[in-house]
Amino acid sequence: MNAIAVEHLRKKHCVSEEFRKARYIEAVKDVSFQIGKGAIHALLGPNGAGKTTITRILSALLLPDGDAQRFWDTMLLKMLKE
Ligand SMILES: Nc1ncnc2c1ncn2[C@@H]1O[C@H](COP(=O)(O)OP(=O)(O)OP(=O)(O)O)[C@@H](O)[C@H]1O
Ligand SMILES: [Mg+2]
Repeated sequence: MNAIAVEHLRKKHCVSEEFRKARYIEAVKDVSFQIGKGAIHALLGPNGAGKTTITRILSALLLPDGDAQRFWDTMLLKMLKE
């Protein structure tokens, strides 16, 4: 049984808010994972790997790129189905 199911998560952070000069950092690139109910996992990676960004998205403090509604539906439906 999954507690968390993430599929193809992506997030770009805007690093310049100048008009017509928006630049982005691809903080999370196509990340998928599942965590079973009751399991304990660590999210490891070097500085800037995207750990905090992923954690903030899973905590609903930040929106993922793309279809955020679909992201939440997939995550929630998977959790509910299993
Ligand atoms: N709010 C933000 N605005 C712009 N860029 C950001 C923002 N938050 C993170 N970034 C950039 O996104 C990338 C991933 O950052 P993140 O903080 O998710 O990594 P991390 O794995 O938690 O790093 P650390 O180990 O240093 O805590 C980095 O290049 C970072 O500079
Ligand atoms: Mg961090």
